[in-house]
Amino acid sequence: MTNLPSIADLGADGIEEMMRLTDKFVEVSGRAIPKVPALRGKTVVSLFYEDSTRTRLSFETAAKRLSADTMTFSVSASSVNKGESLRDTVQTIAAMGIDAVVVRHKSSGVPWRVAEWLGACVINGGDGWHEHPTQALLDCYTITRRRGTLSGLRIAIVGDVKHSRVARSDVLAFTALGADVVLVAPRTLLPPSLEGWPVTVADRIDDVIGSVDVIYLLRLQRERMTEALIPTLREYRNRFGLTASRVQRLAPDVLVMHPGPMNRGVEIDAEAAEDSRSVITAQVANGVAVRMAVLYRLLGSGADLVGARPEEALAGA
Ligand code: NCD
Repeated sequence: MTNLPSIADLGADGIEEMMRLTDKFVEVSGRAIPKVPALRGKTVVSLFYEDSTRTRLSFETAAKRLSADTMTFSVSASSVNKGESLRDTVQTIAAMGIDAVVVRHKSSGVPWRVAEWLGACVINGGDGWHEHPTQALLDCYTITRRRGTLSGLRIAIVGDVKHSRVARSDVLAFTALGADVVLVAPRTLLPPSLEGWPVTVADRIDDVIGSVDVIYLLRLQRERMTEALIPTLREYRNRFGLTASRVQRLAPDVLVMHPGPMNRGVEIDAEAAEDSRSVITAQVANGVAVRMAVLYRLLGSGADLVGARPEEALAGA
C-alpha cells in the first residue's frame, strides 16, 4: 500500500489487516504517554480544502502520537485566495520535503490527481460525495469491537446518501465484510442510480427500526444541495429522524452511529445521541488509532513498533 484513495483498494483482507493493526494503536493510545517513535523524522501534511473538525484533528493527533512532524495547510489563510492552483499548491508543499499528504477537497477524484503529482503518500480525507476511506475503517473497527464481527449484521444507513462520501465508503466496507446494508432515505436523497450497490432500500425509518443491529445516521448535507430536496426539516425528521420516541423501539444491543458533525433535532435527537447504545464518541476515539494504523502502514519501516515491547517502542520518544 502506497496511497489510500479508496476503501476499495484495501478489500476485505486489507480492512481486516488494518483492524488488527489498529488494536495495537488502541493499546498505545491507552498508555500514560501515548506516543511511540515509529515515524520520527517523517512529515505529514494535512491539505484541507473543505471544513473539518474530526478528520483533521484526528490525523494530526495520530501523526503526533507516532512522533511525525505535522504541517497544516488551511485554505482560508493561503495563497489559494490569490488564485494559486491546486497543482502549484501541491508542488510548493512537496518542495519542502514531505512524506504523506492527507487531502480533503470538494471535488471527487482529487486524491488520485494529487498522487500523480507527488512522490509522497496520499491519503483521501474525503473527496466530494465520493469516498472517505478512513471513516469506513473506523466505522468497521467500532462495530467489530462491539459485536465481534460485521458478518451477518443488518445495518441501516439512514438519510442523505446522495451527498455522502461516508455512505459510499461504508457500503463498500460493510458489505465486503459480510454485512447486509439497507439504505433508508427519501428518493430525492438517494443517488440517481443504485446499480452496482449491494444494498436494499426502505422508505421509512419505522420499517427497519426494530430489526437492525446498527443504525447509522447521516448528516443532512445542506451545503451540497443545489435545489430543495426535502419539503421541510420537520417532515424529514418525522419520517427519517432517530427521534427520542423511536429510540425506545431499538433492540437492546443495537449500535447507534453518526460520523459527525450532527444536526441535533434533525437526523438525530439528543436523547438518541446520548443513549447508552450510542457509540458516536467511540467512533471519534477509534478514529485516532485507525489513522495511526494507516500512517504507520504507509510510512513505517515495519520493525519499530509492531511486536516491540512498550519500553522498547518508547525508547527515545
Ligand atoms: C463527514 C465528512 O466530512 O465527510 N464527517 C467526517 O469526516 N466525520 C460527514 C459529514 O460532513 O456529514
